[in-house]
Amino acid sequence: MCGIVGYIGEGNAYNVLIGGLHRLEYRGYDSAGIALVDDNGKLNIYKTLGKVQALENFCKDKNVEARVGIAHTRWATHGEPSDCNAHPHYSEDGNLALVHNGTIENYKVLKDALVEHGRTFHSDTDTEVLVQLIEYIRVQNDCSLLDAVREALKQVVGAYAIAVIEKDNPDCIIAARKSSPLVVGVGDGEFYLASDASPFVEFTDNVVYIKDEEIALIRRGEPLKLLSFDNKENEIDVKKLEMSISQLEKGGYPHFMLKEIFEQPSTLLDCIRGRVVDKGRFVTLNGVNDNSETFINAKRIVIVACGTSWHSALIGKYLIQDMCKIPVVVEYASEFRYSNPVITHEDIVIAISQSGETADTLAAIKIARGMGAFVYGISNVVGSSIPRETHSGTYIHVGPEIGVASTKAFTGQVMVLTLLAMTIAGLKKTLEPRYAEKLGEWILKLPALVEKVIELAPDIERLSLIYTYARNFLYLGRGYSYPVALEGALKLKEISYIHAEGYPAAEMKHGPIALVDAEMPSVIVAPKDHLYDKIVSNVQQVKARGGNIIAIVTEGDTTIRNIADHVLEVPEVPECLTPIITSVPLQLLSYYIAINKGKDVDMPRNLAKSVTVE
Ligand code: F6R
Repeated sequence: MCGIVGYIGEGNAYNVLIGGLHRLEYRGYDSAGIALVDDNGKLNIYKTLGKVQALENFCKDKNVEARVGIAHTRWATHGEPSDCNAHPHYSEDGNLALVHNGTIENYKVLKDALVEHGRTFHSDTDTEVLVQLIEYIRVQNDCSLLDAVREALKQVVGAYAIAVIEKDNPDCIIAARKSSPLVVGVGDGEFYLASDASPFVEFTDNVVYIKDEEIALIRRGEPLKLLSFDNKENEIDVKKLEMSISQLEKGGYPHFMLKEIFEQPSTLLDCIRGRVVDKGRFVTLNGVNDNSETFINAKRIVIVACGTSWHSALIGKYLIQDMCKIPVVVEYASEFRYSNPVITHEDIVIAISQSGETADTLAAIKIARGMGAFVYGISNVVGSSIPRETHSGTYIHVGPEIGVASTKAFTGQVMVLTLLAMTIAGLKKTLEPRYAEKLGEWILKLPALVEKVIELAPDIERLSLIYTYARNFLYLGRGYSYPVALEGALKLKEISYIHAEGYPAAEMKHGPIALVDAEMPSVIVAPKDHLYDKIVSNVQQVKARGGNIIAIVTEGDTTIRNIADHVLEVPEVPECLTPIITSVPLQLLSYYIAINKGKDVDMPRNLAKSVTVE
C-alpha cells in the first residue's frame, strides 16, 4: 500500500523517480507526486489525483531539473484521494518534503498539539503530521534534520517507511522504516531508495534492506549510514538482487495479469526446480529437513494468511492432513491476531504471503512466535519482512507478480504446500513410498499440463462473451476444489466488479440454492476425484432450478457434459494436484470478462497489491 521512491546522485532524478513510480504503481494508484530540489536550491513539489501517467502529464511544462528527489504513489487510508492529500507533504516553512507508506495511528493527538502551537494543515492525511512534527522539533531544538527525524519517530505510533528531503540541504535524503518495507540501491556515486527493488533494477544489483526501526542517512558522495533509533551505527549488509527487467515488463502481453497467467508453466518449473529430483523419486523443501524433529513432533499446524494466500492455505490443509496426518487449522491472519489464539510450542504456524509484507500476517507471526510456536514462512518476495520474521521458510520463486489479482503466486503457493506436505510425510513415513514417487513424477509433468490448460484461452474468451453482463455468479466445488471455487469467485469480483460467491457445493442446498435462476450462472469445479459422484448431484440440483452451468471437468468426462451448459476440459492429474490445473481456467474466465467490461485488470479500483495496513 503506497509506494515510495528516492534518488540522489548525478543523474536525472525526475526520470528515475517517474520510472520507479510506474514500477510501484501496483502498490496504489489513487494519486502520485514528486518533490525535487533543483541546483538553485528550490524545492518543487508536483502532485495530482490519479495514476502516475497523470503526474507525468502534469509535469510536462514544469521545472523537473534535479539530482535529488523523492516520489510517492498512494493508496488512500486517511483522507480521500485528492490533489491535496497526495504526497509528498511539506512543512509549514516549505523547507522539508516527506513521503510515507504506512499509517500513523496517533496522528490525531499529534495534530491537535501542533495546531495548538500554531501550525496550519493543508491535507486530511496522517502523513502531514509527521513532516510538520519534524520541522517543529527541528526549529524548537535547533537540531539537525537527522536528530529531528529521530525524535519525531520516537513520538509516532504506527507503521511507516518514510523519506525526507530538505531544500537547504540538497545533498541528503533521510529515510526510516518500521513495519513497512524500504530498500536502498547502492549505485556508483548514487543511491536509490524504494518500497521494493523494482524501481532501480536496471541501475544496480547491490541492495541494502533497511531493518525495522532503522534510519538511513543517504548523502551524496558519501557511504551509506544506517543508524538505530538510539543513534548507534549499524552494520551494512549489501545483498545481490535476483531480479531482471524482463520480469517487470509486459513482454508483449496487453496486461501483466495475462502475462502472469500464461507464465505459469515456467513459474511452476522454477518453483519445483531442485526440489523434486531423481525423476520425482525425491522431494525436499528448504527449512523442513533441517527442522525435521520439529515437523515430526508437531501436534498441530496452524496456517495464517489473507485473501488468495488464505485460499492456498485451505488447500494446504487438505494436503497436509491427507499426507501427514497432522491436524491443520486455517485462520485469516486478521482474525487470528484478535481472537486470543491458543498456540503452544507444540504447534507449527505457517504464514503464507506473496508480498511478504501483509500487515495482518506479520502481526499473526509475532503473536505466534511470542507464544512459543515454530513459525515457517512461505513468500515470493526475496528480502521482504515475513521471511525475516519467521524461524524458517521458503520462497515460491515465481518472479515478481505485478498484476494486482494474484495468479501465478497462487499456483506457486499451492505447489510449495504440496512439496511441504510430501517432505513432512517423507519424514513421518505417512505416505506410501510408491505413491510418493508417482506423485513426484506427476509434479514434474505439471508445467506441461498447465500449458495444455492455457491452450483453452480462446474457448474461454468466447465463453466469457456470453456471461459478461451477468450480475451475480456462484462458484461451487468440493474437497480440493472448494478453495479453488473461492479463489475463482475472488478473481472475478476483484477485477470485473461482478458479485460472485464461492461455496462448498454441498452447502448450497442449505441456503444459496435459493439464489439460483436463469440469471445467475454457476461455475462448478468438478474434476474426477473421490467426490465426483457427489458433485454430479450438485450439478443436477442447479440445473433442475434453471441455472446455467459452466463446469470445469476432467478430459473425457461425459456425465457432466450432458448436464452442464458449457464444459472446459482439463487434463487428468492425481486429486491433490487438481487445484493447480482447475484454477487456471477460472483465472482466464475472470480476465476475459473484466476485459469485455473494459476494466483495468492490472489496477482494479480500491485495491493495492501489498496490504501493509490493518
Ligand atoms: C487477490 C490478492 C489478495 C492477496 C492478499 C494477501 O488476488 O492478491 O487477496 O492475496 O492481499 O496478500 P499477500 O499474499 O501478499 O499476503
